[in-house]
Amino acid sequence: MASKITKQQVEEALKTVIEPELKKDLITLNFIRNIKISGNNVSFTIMLTTPACPMKDVLEDESTAAIRTHIPEAGDIDIHFDSEVRSDSRISEKLQLPIKNIVAVSSGKGGVGKTTVAANIAVCLAQDGARTGILDADIYGPNMPLLMGAAGPPSQKGGKLVPVRAHGVELMSMGFLIPEAEALVWRGPMLHNAISQLFSEVLWSELDYLVVDLPPGTGDAQLSLAQLVPLTGGIVVTGPQKIALSDARRGITAFNRLGVPLLGVVENMSGEVFGRGGGATLAKEFGIDLLGIIDLHPDMPKETDEGKPFVTTHPDHAISKEFFKISRAIAGKISVIDFTDHR
Ligand SMILES: Nc1ncnc2c1ncn2[C@@H]1O[C@H](COP(=O)(O)OP(=O)(O)OP(=O)(O)O)[C@@H](O)[C@H]1O
Ligand SMILES: [Mg+2]
Repeated sequence: MASKITKQQVEEALKTVIEPELKKDLITLNFIRNIKISGNNVSFTIMLTTPACPMKDVLEDESTAAIRTHIPEAGDIDIHFDSEVRSDSRISEKLQLPIKNIVAVSSGKGGVGKTTVAANIAVCLAQDGARTGILDADIYGPNMPLLMGAAGPPSQKGGKLVPVRAHGVELMSMGFLIPEAEALVWRGPMLHNAISQLFSEVLWSELDYLVVDLPPGTGDAQLSLAQLVPLTGGIVVTGPQKIALSDARRGITAFNRLGVPLLGVVENMSGEVFGRGGGATLAKEFGIDLLGIIDLHPDMPKETDEGKPFVTTHPDHAISKEFFKISRAIAGKISVIDFTDHR
């Protein structure tokens, strides 16, 4: 007679599966929930630290293999996934905002595709099931509403502005608050106040990730933002040309100086026209990760102006897969930072 599989056996098997980033086993991490045994069939839930987990497939494969090895008599193995995004607790402590993590996207140089990258990353996070927002803090050219096809103006509730929604993401833009021409003459304190309003006067929902699109350059806006809200991490977008890297270097240095953990660099507009390799050069120079490389694509400018992020129009394209790789790498790195919190 076949012996009955026990919950303990399942736990012992899963104790051999190590989460590659946190370097502990799934049982110790308390990531395994709801183990059920029916005859020889086993089912359980793996609790991820983000729905955009880059390790999901690896964990599924390794858990299945561990059960097969340790419990050869096991029949069907049914693995479910759930997730609970951890918080950068400094955000709620300092600002009483219901936002778990804030990621700032910077470039140093203008026009490298920072807004395009920020928009696509945010849409990827949302499509993976994370509650995601975009804050367009680009005072000089707040064009995120255009890219996301969300014109505004936002409605109001209880004296606060309600973010608009597009492509599963909620969005608030500096462009909704102030006429563009006005911002051009702003200096330090006015800028600081305006960025402050994007938090104090906006009714943000409970968000797992807020992606902030910063204005080009590494001046007052970065500083104001970092002074106003704790930034969980920063990413820097660069072009592919090695000769044009000095601006991105300044972006990286600014994050370092502000004590913002650098999640990595994204190379955009890569390919035959502008070359390749800028991102790799920066990553090596600063010892940070190259999160991904986005090629130049002829459809992007037109579709972007029509409010259609690339990942929504070309979901199966290699570039979209790369955007997902980047967004999952960001989510994974944030999980590790929040999990091993020594801020
Ligand atoms: N990978 C790409 N392939 C083709 N076109 C791209 C790509 N990435 C961005 N673009 C185009 O380049 C232009 C600039 O992009 P974007 O507005 O995202 O840059 P930015 O860095 O945010 O600029 P700014 O400094 O003005 O804020 C846009 O027309 C956009 O559609
Ligand atoms: Mg921009």
